[in-house]
Amino acid sequence: MRIDIVTIFPEYFGALDVSLLGRAREDGILDVKVHDLRAFTHDRHRTVDDKPYGGGAGMVMKPEPWGEALDAILDQVAAPGATTDADGDANADGDIVDHDAASVVGTGLSAGAADARPRHRRETDPIVIFPSPAGEVFTQAMARELSGASHIVFGCGRYEGIDQRVFEYAESRASVRLVSLGDYVLNGGEVAVMAMIEAIGRLIPGVIGNPESLVEESHEDGLLEYPSYTKPAEWRGYAVPPVLTNGNHGAIAVWRREQQLERTRRVRPDLLPPAQ
Ligand code: ADE
Repeated sequence: MRIDIVTIFPEYFGALDVSLLGRAREDGILDVKVHDLRAFTHDRHRTVDDKPYGGGAGMVMKPEPWGEALDAILDQVAAPGATTDADGDANADGDIVDHDAASVVGTGLSAGAADARPRHRRETDPIVIFPSPAGEVFTQAMARELSGASHIVFGCGRYEGIDQRVFEYAESRASVRLVSLGDYVLNGGEVAVMAMIEAIGRLIPGVIGNPESLVEESHEDGLLEYPSYTKPAEWRGYAVPPVLTNGNHGAIAVWRREQQLERTRRVRPDLLPPAQ
């Protein structure tokens, strides 16, 4: 899967180098490119925001840098035979893409933009996701659906959000989704994108060594997961439930199911179907 991230804080995504996702990038399963939105500005101050039309608190992200950033990424994948990064490197390095170096993209109007007006969507179209507290809520089901995509572009907003026309323009070039991590407000989309990439990435075949470990997790079957224990059987006076130590696999399965139901009823009753 190819992932492009547009942000004014590329440093946030250093964590994608470590752990399972870092290995998936090394193995070529995930090809992640991080793009600094400010590389698509043309003024001395590299301005990405301005006052809102109609007044109000805060600043709004300007459409022009967003338009150029999206063009640079989407033109590149639309171009048949495109095998190099915007910075001309081979595709598998996963670096922050240096659009400031005198490369073709990100320095001016991109050649493909003019003919990229609304058209019919294809299965293989890139998906552009803007994290937003005003979006549909991210779920395990959405993570699973997105894990089958071949190319996702994440656009991280800051301040009071992005000029609405950017979403309309993006719609003309890709499938666009506004996605919220939950009913609370973050300072920007970066943390939400990290969470989404981890949730999506671990579902891509080959990223997690033992795929069976994905099956019995919270939310996979609509319930929270059962509690887990390992050795020693007794620790600081706390014992492992005896049912888990007697080797009766039928009894263990029943106990685990009961634990899932009890935990879900207690902590997340909203996940259960309404009582008849
Ligand atoms: N940006 C700010 N708050 C957010 C949220 N809850 N989810 C996704 N992106 C956000």
